[in-house]
This record gives sequence, C-alpha cells and structure tokens, in this order.
Amino acid sequence: MKLPNLFLENLARDNKEFLNLLDLTAKVHGENRQPVGKTDQAFWNEDFFHLRDSSIWKSLTDEKKKQVLVKLSQKILQEAYFIECAGMAYAGKMNLAAKSKEERAFFCFVGEEEAKHLRLIESLTNFNTTLSDIPSFALLIGEIIQEASKPSHLLMIQILLEGWGLHYYKSLAKASMDEDVANAFKSILKDEIRHHSAGVLLFSSHKTHLGLTSVEVAEFMDYLERVAFMVKIGPYGSCEEIFKQLEGHGTPEQLETLLTETEAVRKTSDKLEILEQLLCKSLPDEVMKSIREKGILKPLNLKEMTQVLAQSIL
Ligand SMILES: [Fe+2]
Ligand SMILES: [Fe+2]
Repeated sequence: MKLPNLFLENLARDNKEFLNLLDLTAKVHGENRQPVGKTDQAFWNEDFFHLRDSSIWKSLTDEKKKQVLVKLSQKILQEAYFIECAGMAYAGKMNLAAKSKEERAFFCFVGEEEAKHLRLIESLTNFNTTLSDIPSFALLIGEIIQEASKPSHLLMIQILLEGWGLHYYKSLAKASMDEDVANAFKSILKDEIRHHSAGVLLFSSHKTHLGLTSVEVAEFMDYLERVAFMVKIGPYGSCEEIFKQLEGHGTPEQLETLLTETEAVRKTSDKLEILEQLLCKSLPDEVMKSIREKGILKPLNLKEMTQVLAQSIL
C-alpha cells in the first residue's frame, strides 16, 4: 500500500519558536500537557487480548509475556495515533467541502478535537511514529480519506470507522490498567460520539437529496471489503507478537491452537456484527442485501483464518 501524503513528517525539534507557539495554542484551548514519563509499560493485560486460557501463552516466561503485552500496548497507541493524524486531515477535507457555514464551523471544531486527541495519545508513552511503519489499518483509513468521494468517505470514515471507534475506545478505556490511558480514551470517546452522529446526519441528507449512484455504491463496496478483511484477520497483531517469542519457528498447528483457545473466530464475528449494525442504520436495504450476498462481512472460519495468518506470521 502506498503512503497517503496526508501523513506528514514531524517538524524538526530545532524549530523551537513554532513548536512553542503550538504548545501555547494548545494550552489556550485547554490542554494540560505532562511530559511523557511512562516507557515500556503494558497498559492492557492478558485478559484484554483473550490470552489467559491459551496453552502457548502459558508456556511463555513472565519476561516474554511482559514483552508481548508492552509491544501490543504500543501497537494500539501507534494505530490510534496515526488514525488521529488522518482525522485532522479529514476535518480539513470536510471543511473545504462544507455546504453551509454551520457545517464548516462544525468541521473546524472537529479539526481542533482531532489535534487534541493526537497530542493526548502522543503524551501517554513512547511508541514508533516513523512514517514507514504506519500500521496497515491506519494506512487504509488515510487512503480512504484522501481518495474516496463523498458518500463513500462519509460512510467509511464517520459512520463505520468512527462508529466502530466508539465500541473499540470504550473497551480500551474500560480495560486499561493505567488511569491516564483510560481517561485519555474516555475523553476522546466523548468527541467521537458527535463526529459519528454528524456523519449519520450528513449521509442521510446526501441520500435524500442525491441518492446513491451505482458508481458510488461500487466504490464504497470496494473500500468496505478491504476494511472488513482487516477486521477478519483481527487477531493478527497478538498472534504475531506471541510467535516472535517462541523458541524456533511456530507451526500452523500451534497457530490454529492459539486461534481456537483465544476464541478468535467468535470474537471476530462479534466485531463484524457491529460493523453490520452500524451500516444497517444508514444504508438502503438493497445495498445491505448485496453486502450480505457477497459475504463481505462474513467471518473467516478457523481453517481460513489459520491459513491467512500463517502466510504472514510463520
Ligand atoms: Fe479522533
Ligand atoms: Fe473523530
């Protein structure tokens, strides 16, 4: 996947004047930024990743378990960070495309909120922010923001992904072992509820006034298929980190066991169901029918999931 150019490099640290001005502006807008004090910490435990009952997980030493949990925590924050980077650009795109003064004002506020989210996540701990290592889910979101036309990006970004974010961030806040991390996700959640609601309203108005053309539906289906595939291989991140800790190479049988013991198929199908519910509320019946007929939101079975994950992990 090519790097969407909405992901930008960090400004060099010697641009002190501009960086100070940014910090001052954030402060005026209510930010109370603390220096990053926590490094190499796990913010979520084995229960959050459904690992407690896994025999492969239990076979790891405490040190290796800690390494996996730290790495997975960093991956969660890294992905959230790049999604917020993309969110700032999305607010800019919606600002320019606004159809009323009020809509534009709304997206000016959204831009401010996404910048606050980004800086909040950045302040929690150290993680990899190199552009060449952007997680593929965030890259795809960036591509949709940059390339997709209006009904598609309203559906994909504000209805599906911000709607999905509400469930996901709620679970991150609830399960985090760290108060600062839990509070950060709780405060992001409050804003994302409004961003998602705006998407539902704007798409409904687009549908009423302009309808959906077959080209628009096809574009949306294509993006949905790509997002759904990433959800279908959801346990990829945790499996990858665990297999890195095994002595020697893991086998497809071990991978299948890990997926079975962590109930990966059931958990993935719960996630796909949330996506379907979010879309159901906004999409015309015939588009939902076509999504079901094509099996776009149908989970992989255990064998399929093992096969797909084995190609990248083993
Ligand atoms: Fe956000
Ligand atoms: Fe948002």
